[in-house]
Amino acid sequence: MTAGTKMTVRDVSVWYGAKPALSNVSLDIEREEVIALIGPSGCGKSTLLRTLNRLNDSVAGARVQGLVTLDGEDVYAPATDPVALRARVGMVFQAPNPFPKTIRENVAYGLRIHGLARGRADLDAQVERALTRAGLWAEVRDRLGDPALSLSGGQQQRLCIARALAVEPEVILMDEPCSALDPIGTARIEELIGDLRGRYAICIVTHNMQQAARVSQRTAFFDAGRLIEYGATSELFTNPRETRTRDYITGRYG
Ligand SMILES: Nc1ncnc2c1ncn2[C@@H]1O[C@H](COP(=O)(O)OP(=O)(O)OP(=O)(O)O)[C@@H](O)[C@H]1O
Ligand SMILES: [Mg+2]
Repeated sequence: MTAGTKMTVRDVSVWYGAKPALSNVSLDIEREEVIALIGPSGCGKSTLLRTLNRLNDSVAGARVQGLVTLDGEDVYAPATDPVALRARVGMVFQAPNPFPKTIRENVAYGLRIHGLARGRADLDAQVERALTRAGLWAEVRDRLGDPALSLSGGQQQRLCIARALAVEPEVILMDEPCSALDPIGTARIEELIGDLRGRYAICIVTHNMQQAARVSQRTAFFDAGRLIEYGATSELFTNPRETRTRDYITGRYG
């Protein structure tokens, strides 16, 4: 682990029942970088994300072996509170999933459950800051009391990002955050990822090779639960070491 490392994954394997989903994966997630996870459907990308913030805890039959650390501390240690962990390691899902509440309440929710706001004015200020960072404030400032579900899909996804940012996470996990968005919505999210880089460690799953190349500094390629290649994005896309990586990124996979 170097000074710049935020999370480490060491020899991690995950099973669902008897079925292995990840096998002996090791990689580091750096503080100021965006890491892209790529690979064919079913290779274990979402499983790895869920392993980083213990979302697999609630999946019946899921079993995790190996070491995952956040700032050097074991994420799976008995003393780690999974709810507190998920505030530090936030998640944005594939389909925007705002709560059926107002725009304001969606962002305020985490602040309330974690007791992070000191009164109404502070809550409002934090809601504004999160919406501003998510690039949504200008579009919603006059309609904070409207239902979140009245927003467009792209706006809903930025709202979900604001909801994750509100609790001041240190790591943001994004599982195909643009797959339900049109090209304009996608461009907004990619721009946002660029703005957020440096402030948060970001780990994004994507099926879009151009997107991985545009937004990430490092890329990890997985196949059948194994980490095949991990390195600088510029290197991996122009000069992959492994044949399987080359076949996948050039669309010759399968
Ligand atoms: N809750 C679950 N119960 C049983 N098996 C699961 C569960 N979740 C995932 N799996 C299996 O684990 C393997 C990895 O799944 P995962 O969702 O991590 O893949 P992925 O790389 O995210 O795929 P995709 O690109 O399609 O989202 C797959 O074989 C999948 O069927
Ligand atoms: Mg997935």
